[in-house]
Amino acid sequence: MGSNFIHHILKNYPDYKITNLDKLTYAGNLSNLKDVENNPNYKFVKGDIANADDVNKAIGDGVDVIINYAAESHVDRSILSPRAFLDTDIFGTYTLLEAVRTGKAKRLIQISTDEVFGMVHDMTEEFTEESRFDPSSPYSASKAGGDLMCSAYWKTYNTPVIVTHSCNFYGANQYPEKLIPLFITNLLEDKKVPVYGEGNQFREWIFTEDHCRAIDTILHKGKIGEVYNIGTRNRKANMDITKSILNYLGKDESYIEYVADRPGHDFGYAVNPDKLMTELGWKPETNFEEGLTRTIEWYKQNEDWWKKIKTEEFLKYYEKNYAK
Ligand code: TYD
Repeated sequence: MGSNFIHHILKNYPDYKITNLDKLTYAGNLSNLKDVENNPNYKFVKGDIANADDVNKAIGDGVDVIINYAAESHVDRSILSPRAFLDTDIFGTYTLLEAVRTGKAKRLIQISTDEVFGMVHDMTEEFTEESRFDPSSPYSASKAGGDLMCSAYWKTYNTPVIVTHSCNFYGANQYPEKLIPLFITNLLEDKKVPVYGEGNQFREWIFTEDHCRAIDTILHKGKIGEVYNIGTRNRKANMDITKSILNYLGKDESYIEYVADRPGHDFGYAVNPDKLMTELGWKPETNFEEGLTRTIEWYKQNEDWWKKIKTEEFLKYYEKNYAK
């Protein structure tokens, strides 16, 4: 999402300057931004948001805004080893908040998730910005921790911060551990797709470009101290998505492998996006069928990109995660 947003800003705001601070963990990938590496408005700094020296180096003489896309974000990895999630999602957010509190940056936009609210039980229930935090996984608990630090800094120090809670996103360049890119790339490799449980769980989905436009809207019109849900009301059961991908790629249901369910698996996520829509005038533009087609086509045309990823570290993780 971070690299998609950098492309979005460089394309739409030719006078903006962006510094990209990235630790380049397993999910980081410099090739996502290769085409802009010589753009005079773009600078890359390798470093960790949880390290104040790295953050200060990236900030230099000061910045107008920090947008915190940096996170350990995969639920299954948080179940296998939670520690890195606390470091980046909680301590990292704290380090960025300190940079804002001490005036090095003017404000922080915290990119977060609807998972902090826990789960809904059916597709008609939805979380508002006021819903209670009730995270289920070490991942969502770590994001909740970071978000709570943001609201505490706003209340205690008046540190200018905005928090966003987004539904699941999908699109180009997504690391192939997540449902949609994992299933597409497995099928392109003629492998089966591992469906947890019976595939009845559902998520709400937003296409990357719509998410970039949502953050753009919040960057330019969002009110300091506010929280915004980013959602589309486009809710789909995992099995429906699985069948759509199978169908598009001409595979039958024998390619489905039912695997042991994820522990603590949230049944559904759904957010009420009315505040962002009515107060700031944003709305999603890409319907799911179109977005999914564009995503599948991107993975078909960029085999080099994901084949390089689906090697050693990835295969070790895959074996460990799905061997349960
Ligand atoms: P994921 O992409 O991991 O996002 P999140 O859990 O953060 O919403 O998973 C989306 C849904 O797909 C979730 O209900 C779990 C399910 N899923 C599978 O059934 N099999 C898989 O291999 C993966 C990665 C996810």
